[in-house]
Amino acid sequence: MASITGIGSYLPGKILTNHDLEKMVDTTDEWILQRTGIRERRIVENGVSTSDLATHASLKAIEDAGISAEEIDMIITSTITPDYLFPSSSCCLQKQIGATRACAFDISAACSGFVYALSIGQSFINSGAAKTILVVGSECLSKITDYTDRSTCILFGDGAGAVVIQNDKEKHQILDTNLASDGTYADVLIIPGGGSRHSASMESVQKRLHYIQFKGKELFKLAINNITNLVIETTRKNGFDVQDIDLIIPHQSNLRIIEATMEKLKLPMEKAFVNIDKYGNTSSASVPIAIDEAQQEGRLKKGDLVMLVAFGGGLTWGSSLIKW
Ligand code: UT7
Repeated sequence: MASITGIGSYLPGKILTNHDLEKMVDTTDEWILQRTGIRERRIVENGVSTSDLATHASLKAIEDAGISAEEIDMIITSTITPDYLFPSSSCCLQKQIGATRACAFDISAACSGFVYALSIGQSFINSGAAKTILVVGSECLSKITDYTDRSTCILFGDGAGAVVIQNDKEKHQILDTNLASDGTYADVLIIPGGGSRHSASMESVQKRLHYIQFKGKELFKLAINNITNLVIETTRKNGFDVQDIDLIIPHQSNLRIIEATMEKLKLPMEKAFVNIDKYGNTSSASVPIAIDEAQQEGRLKKGDLVMLVAFGGGLTWGSSLIKW
């Protein structure tokens, strides 16, 4: 059975606080903290890219797993901020870590991307088609954030997380993953420019089409309902009750979304891992960064039932149930 055998994460050193944002747009520390739970986020220096962050996180995960980069059969990176449209950030990462034997590709499922990538990796391990897979969530969201738009720029940050998965009964077993999408909401969370619909032009830049746009209120409700239902479905499908969950590691998009979800699930907030105050929303990097921090803080004990759950653009959502 596919198991997580190594974990690593990396956050760039530069900090952008709510007070810094007060000087950039018409906002306040109080508003941001009350509405989102975010105090600060990390931002890359100029010239640093998604595969650079992924490299730091991956090397830690590889060391934690006690393997060499040459043992990796496959690299799957989830990102909405790839180094280039092509080649993939996974290929850039492959070169940087020397994973010479691996096949490498990126996937696009926005904030749910890490759970999607984990599910793909799990299937390859369980079928026997691969032995060692590096699954990464890495984002430089500061590169696609409009720092003149107060409704979005307060939310996002940069970072990366990675796990190694292998067939190992002694480690953290991935019991099940569940994925869902609803493309009818594609325009609710979107970067309209830079693809084949509105390719890069003077006009697309002037219209600011290369930045994240969203309908926050609509997303807020959809996130709570879909995450809640998915957690309930996933636990029941695997013969557990929601109350059996020891720790939920949710995508960190808004503290109020996490609180409302826990309330609907009738679970205390102590059963949710939260680090949004430090990093904001790092899209597909948020779940693996949170796994790494939860592990380091001693929040994950052998035998614990752990639920990863994420929701984001697409719309997409996904869960992963892990026996720690
Ligand atoms: O990761 C993928 C999933 N992401 C999400 O699910 C994000 C979901 N949405 C959210 O987290 C929230 O909707 C936001 C944090 C984006 C916004 O919070 P909200 O409570 O829904 O605020 P709102 O958009 O309804 O705005 C309330 C008021 C408005 O003013 P009026 O119209 O009431 O006068 C906004 O103009 O707050 C104003 N506002 C701000 N004020 C100060 C919006 N942004 C700001 C700001 N600072 N940064």
